[in-house]
Amino acid sequence: MTVAEFRESKGCGPPLVCVTAYDAPFAQVAECAGVDAILVGDSVGRAVLGYTNEFPVTVSDIVHHTAAVTRAVNNTLVVADLPYQSYATPDDALRNAATLLQTGGAAAVKIEGGLATANITKELVNRGMPVMAHVGLTPQSAHVLGGYRVQGKGLSEAQEIVNGAQAQANAGAFAIVLEMLPAKLAGAITKHVTIPTIGIGAGVHCDGQIQVLHDLLGLSSSDFRHSHVFAEIASISEAALSEYAQQVRSGDFPSLEQSFKGRRGTVKRLTFE
Ligand code: KIV
Repeated sequence: MTVAEFRESKGCGPPLVCVTAYDAPFAQVAECAGVDAILVGDSVGRAVLGYTNEFPVTVSDIVHHTAAVTRAVNNTLVVADLPYQSYATPDDALRNAATLLQTGGAAAVKIEGGLATANITKELVNRGMPVMAHVGLTPQSAHVLGGYRVQGKGLSEAQEIVNGAQAQANAGAFAIVLEMLPAKLAGAITKHVTIPTIGIGAGVHCDGQIQVLHDLLGLSSSDFRHSHVFAEIASISEAALSEYAQQVRSGDFPSLEQSFKGRRGTVKRLTFE
């Protein structure tokens, strides 16, 4: 899946399937499962790095995790998030996006914001760096948005989101994430913008969906209404590790099957001081 194929899929075929991933094993699993795109999101902060929000995540964190993901996949579009304040100016954006593409190996970057960051999108796209936009609930602006709540419920807020989405599409974004919006608003944006809309908590009318991997696999403590636990990997892992601990303590593990033999008589001839 290339950026161009992703963009041109709008209006044809089934919804696009996107998920976050931050390491090689899960990236491989996502590719084998047939997802269309992996986002190395700044959600890595909450999902993997033990932070309570996205603010502490740095460009170096995203580069590190993006490189692990891109080493593991062959056919899946990999998009890397530009983290908090890493695209405050066009120069910052160009430098940091180039690092995510060049060192991380991503095919595109994602930035948050509508009208306010459309100029950044234009600069990046003009320099050949594909941009996925992100409007609605944008976690890097959680303080001004009043926390993690549904956006665009009233007319003026909804109109601002529509204007932002259109500005990003006009600036050259190849797709746009719609986070935590009323489903009808997301549907209207999807109908009117020319690029694929990727929803998270934005209902069924989007051109695709994205979720945080760890929320889908029961590996996070988040309890978002818009997510769903498809497998309880945390409890499966806990049961496996309890069994391992029990077998080590009882002497059942390792058994002969997991042990190695040396040459006959070697140990007998060793000397110990
Ligand atoms: O960082 C992230 O994972 C995201 C998605 C939730 C869209 O921005």
